[in-house]
Amino acid sequence: MRQILKFSILALSTAILLAGCGEVEDTRPGQPVKHRQTAFKEIVKAFEPMGVMLRDGRYDADKFLRQAENLMSKREAPWSYFGADTNYPPTKATPEVWKQPEAFEKNRQAFFTATDALLLAAQSKDKAAVEKTYDAVHEACKTCHKQFKER
Ligand code: HEC
Repeated sequence: MRQILKFSILALSTAILLAGCGEVEDTRPGQPVKHRQTAFKEIVKAFEPMGVMLRDGRYDADKFLRQAENLMSKREAPWSYFGADTNYPPTKATPEVWKQPEAFEKNRQAFFTATDALLLAAQSKDKAAVEKTYDAVHEACKTCHKQFKER
């Protein structure tokens, strides 16, 4: 009896925990929200190690260049999944994405320009240029998120 009670309390608290996380599955055909979220996770996974390297003060030009190239290979992935009818849970995008398509596009282009500059700096192996362009990419992420992503 006590064993069963323990089990159901555990099951109950797991259910509450999951509900608390707002864990919603993307069940629509093609799962566009899930795909773009995964694509952004890949971008941050590529981007973050560069910041860590710079902050730790152990800039390794060759390694940084490989990381920058890796980021370039991920930067195209999310955008085609922002289709017209794709503003639904579990998205963290704001309605502004669809209301202000031109502003969204401008932010996307700014991100491409910033990552172009980061790659050039990484190829030059000039540490100061690398730091400056890294910060500019970070700004491009933040600026877009401010308007177009829920926090
Ligand atoms: C042009 C706009 C734009 C730019 C630039 C941008 N993002 Fe985002 N990002 C979004 C939007 C919109 C979402 C929400 C997607 C959704 O949930 O449907 C998002 C979501 C994310 C997420 C959350 C993924 C998840 O669901 O767990 C991460 C992490 C992320 N972005 C990282 C970055 C990083 C790092 C950069 C820059 C290197 C960046 N983004 C650049 C618009 C942008």
